[in-house]
Amino acid sequence: MNNSFRYREGSLHDKEQLQKLKIISYSQFSKVLTPDNWAKMNESLHDEDKLTELINKSKIYVCMWNNEMVGVAYLVPSGSAWGPFKAEWSYIRNVGVNPEFRGRGIAKTLTKMCIDYAKKSGEKIIALHTSEFMDAARHIYEGIGFKAIEEIEPIFGKKYWLYMLEIN
Ligand SMILES: CC(C)(COP(=O)(O)OP(=O)(O)OC[C@H]1O[C@@H](n2cnc3c(N)ncnc32)[C@H](O)[C@@H]1OP(=O)(O)O)[C@@H](O)C(=O)NCCC(=O)NCCS
Repeated sequence: MNNSFRYREGSLHDKEQLQKLKIISYSQFSKVLTPDNWAKMNESLHDEDKLTELINKSKIYVCMWNNEMVGVAYLVPSGSAWGPFKAEWSYIRNVGVNPEFRGRGIAKTLTKMCIDYAKKSGEKIIALHTSEFMDAARHIYEGIGFKAIEEIEPIFGKKYWLYMLEIN
């Protein structure tokens, strides 16, 4: 079954599919956020400029099912301080898998691809942030060895933690 999935790097050429996948992957949170906070998240999911900026500064890994993009993970190399992330750290952002393709190890594989790339390019730290309402994601990151370092400012009215993995 897994033989039909293909993993590759993503780029700006994939922007349309990346945008679509982001919306599909995160739409489940309409049910767990308050209407105001969901409106904020939904606006951010549709923000094309924000996505272009992320694409341009990231190493991107995607999972394809035939011609359909079904999973993605972004690794931002060190040198791009943002939010709680320091310039000396690399960080993973916006991991997302189409709900129809979940539970097959796609997110875990994409996260490991980001870690392998970070190791090869000499990064020392990989950080990420994740929340109390992202149970599957926390399970994956903790299983890989990321440690929750501290609670950060709430986002979308929810608790978030800064996670870190030391490499090299
Ligand atoms: C998080 C997400 C990317 C996982 O994608 P996926 O391809 O299904 O993940 P995988 O198949 O690699 O691994 C899923 C793991 O989570 C576990 N899991 C699934 N739902 C869970 C839940 N509600 N609570 C705890 N663990 C859960 C699975 O059992 C599996 O772990 P296992 O391999 O030890 O059995 C996907 O659910 C998603 O897109 N969620 C919405 C966006 C999101 O939260 N992104 C992360 C932002 S930090």
